[in-house]
Amino acid sequence: MRLTCEQLNPHACKTYLLGIEGSNEVAFIDPVIDHINDYGKLVKKRHLRVSKIIETHTHADHISGAASLKDVFDCDYVMHLQAPAICANFRVSDNMQWLFLGMIPVKILHTPGHTRDSISLQFPDCIFTGDALFLDDGGAGRDDLPGGDPAAHWETLNKLYQLPDRLVVYPAHDYRNRKPSSLKQQKETNPHMKKSRESRQAFVQYLEDLKLGPAEWMKDVLKANYACARDPRAAWIPADSPACEVKGTIDPGTNEIQVATITSPILMQKISSGSPPVLIDVREKEELSGPLGHIDNIMHIPVAGLVKKIPELERYKNHDIVTICRSGSRAHTAAQILTKAGFPKVSVLADGMMAWNSTGH
Ligand SMILES: [Fe+2]
Repeated sequence: MRLTCEQLNPHACKTYLLGIEGSNEVAFIDPVIDHINDYGKLVKKRHLRVSKIIETHTHADHISGAASLKDVFDCDYVMHLQAPAICANFRVSDNMQWLFLGMIPVKILHTPGHTRDSISLQFPDCIFTGDALFLDDGGAGRDDLPGGDPAAHWETLNKLYQLPDRLVVYPAHDYRNRKPSSLKQQKETNPHMKKSRESRQAFVQYLEDLKLGPAEWMKDVLKANYACARDPRAAWIPADSPACEVKGTIDPGTNEIQVATITSPILMQKISSGSPPVLIDVREKEELSGPLGHIDNIMHIPVAGLVKKIPELERYKNHDIVTICRSGSRAHTAAQILTKAGFPKVSVLADGMMAWNSTGH
């Protein structure tokens, strides 16, 4: 008997449909209210029987579809004991184990930090981590909303670190099309996971340094989910905001800013021209000495610390600036942050160091 897993949503909030081969029984993890009609159609078309809906935590970036789906399918709605949502009827706690679908066992891990009620679901070959752990350089969910606790998150990440390497990690969000990958990979590449190996104090300081600004609207979304809202308009939510990630804390409007790109050959020409642009590499420190290397004479400012460094960058305000990362995503964010801060001539190295290397530099 094998567990099957399908991700249903077209955007960064992930909803998983879990099933077992040879049975029509299924469970939803973290359904989003905007898609409940699609979920309903899918269930009908495939003649599925929904036995449970699980929320990994109270979400702050979208209205949950769990209450509405429970109304339709009359199934169990599973949340942690401490979850405020009164409509959750099946409460779980740390280390609880039960046969989840058919004979497939699950173990509940209480994994607070992002929220007080966060749980992860550990299956024999995979783990659903909610916002306790994202993939690769995505780190993990932010801890600065009501109920968030960086010290608890440190303990959570240490707890996850003890689990088998082979488990495939399925997070509740991914903002850059990363594919689920092993816990081993997270131990090696995920900055939150790596930082959790240091002291609790160092980890808390690391998160403190990442904090880029408020996201007041998320408090309204939390309240709507505490109240088991069944209306997608129960709270205002900005379109396509990578809200639960650290990037989601940047000033409102930053994500919409258009920025220019520059190709590797053109950048090479400019560097050789005698008046090179200011190069800001926004990757993590370890990446600079990794296989992709780095360009000579860069300034190194990881993207999460960029806002704090803006006063130091004022003297370059009227220079050409090029932001650089591995593939262009973080550099794009960095260029948006600088442009929002009034730097007029910022561009992004297109496709980052991957392109720089593949063009022979
Ligand atoms: Fe979240």
